[in-house]
Amino acid sequence: MSQPTSPLLGDQPLKIGAFAPNANGGITMTEATRSLRVSWEHQKKIAQSLDRWGFDVTVPIARWKGFGGSTNFNGSALETFTWAAGIAEATENIAVVATTHVATLDPVVAAKMAATVDHISGGRFGLNVVMGWNSVEMAMMQNGLLNHEERYAYGAEWLDFVERLWSSDEAFDVDGKFFRAVGCESEPKPLQDRPVIINAGNSKTGLAYSAKYADINFFVSSDLDQMAAHSAALKKAAREEHDREIQTMTAAMVICRDTEAEARRVHDEILEKADWVSAQNLMAIHGVDSDSWKEQMTKFKERFILAHGATSLVGTPEQVVDGLQQMADHGMQGVLMGFLNYAEEIDYIGEKVLPLMQQAGLRK
Ligand SMILES: Cc1cc2nc3c(=O)[nH]c(=O)nc-3n(C[C@H](O)[C@H](O)[C@H](O)COP(=O)(O)O)c2cc1C
Repeated sequence: MSQPTSPLLGDQPLKIGAFAPNANGGITMTEATRSLRVSWEHQKKIAQSLDRWGFDVTVPIARWKGFGGSTNFNGSALETFTWAAGIAEATENIAVVATTHVATLDPVVAAKMAATVDHISGGRFGLNVVMGWNSVEMAMMQNGLLNHEERYAYGAEWLDFVERLWSSDEAFDVDGKFFRAVGCESEPKPLQDRPVIINAGNSKTGLAYSAKYADINFFVSSDLDQMAAHSAALKKAAREEHDREIQTMTAAMVICRDTEAEARRVHDEILEKADWVSAQNLMAIHGVDSDSWKEQMTKFKERFILAHGATSLVGTPEQVVDGLQQMADHGMQGVLMGFLNYAEEIDYIGEKVLPLMQQAGLRK
């Protein structure tokens, strides 16, 4: 119907976004004092700051239950489609994403909700399609959690169905393994030909899914060589097996201050005041836990405390830009950022980091 309008498909050399501003704790599991609030006024403030500074995207986390501990990390989380609708209305340029667990939403409902937010946003909507992994929260849902391979097979049928609803001008029937439906139609269509599809599959099956369907894959690793290999392999698979292009992006906790010592102090305080119980619970659900590898496990747990398992960029604006440059040099076309204090630190990034990114050629 129309041309892509999402900044996610624009020409910024390294796209930047915020990750998980809609849930308490964001991506950091700590009792350290923070400004993030799950109130609508605060959510709007964060989004409007991102928009004002020209960030490309804001990506919420879809979370239905917290992880316990003293902070009940992510236990208070705004639902992401309705959040995206409000944020779309409150902003002008930034891409707005909803993150959906496919098993929780009928494709007919999801397709129309996505089209609706695409209209509200004027074509800035993106859909992060997640299959679910959190057995504890999925136990609250009627469909529960399929096994890993089945989840992706289900997700493939789910997205095929949604895409047909977005594109078909005639009513159609569906007769699949997971979905049977008659006389399917959906109007209005999204403003974009297809809202930007995001997927964070990191397993072999997840990567195959991304190669086939996603415009953007989120990959989490602290190992730059692994990032580069991942990016190259995924782009090759998308091109050779599906004749399509895909962007690869990652996520990081950003702790940026005027001096390295100050940034380190914040980093250390996050760990000193860590919510270890929440991290322990999260990792147990992931199936990552071991008594026999205490030292490695502590290091690993620190990654969850600091950045929900992602990497951290800690230091001065110059050092953070250096880290972003390295990610870009290793195939990443975008970085989603988590912060201790989203509202204030987004402004800080705008003032101190974005000019350096421009100088480095990472931003136009
Ligand atoms: C940036 C990013 C955002 C994610 N958002 C969510 C989310 O909102 N909800 C969720 O349950 N999982 C989320 N995930 C987890 C992924 O969907 C996926 O399950 C995980 O990366 C494991 O990959 P696999 O399914 O290939 O094993 C996210 C992962 C990343 C890297």
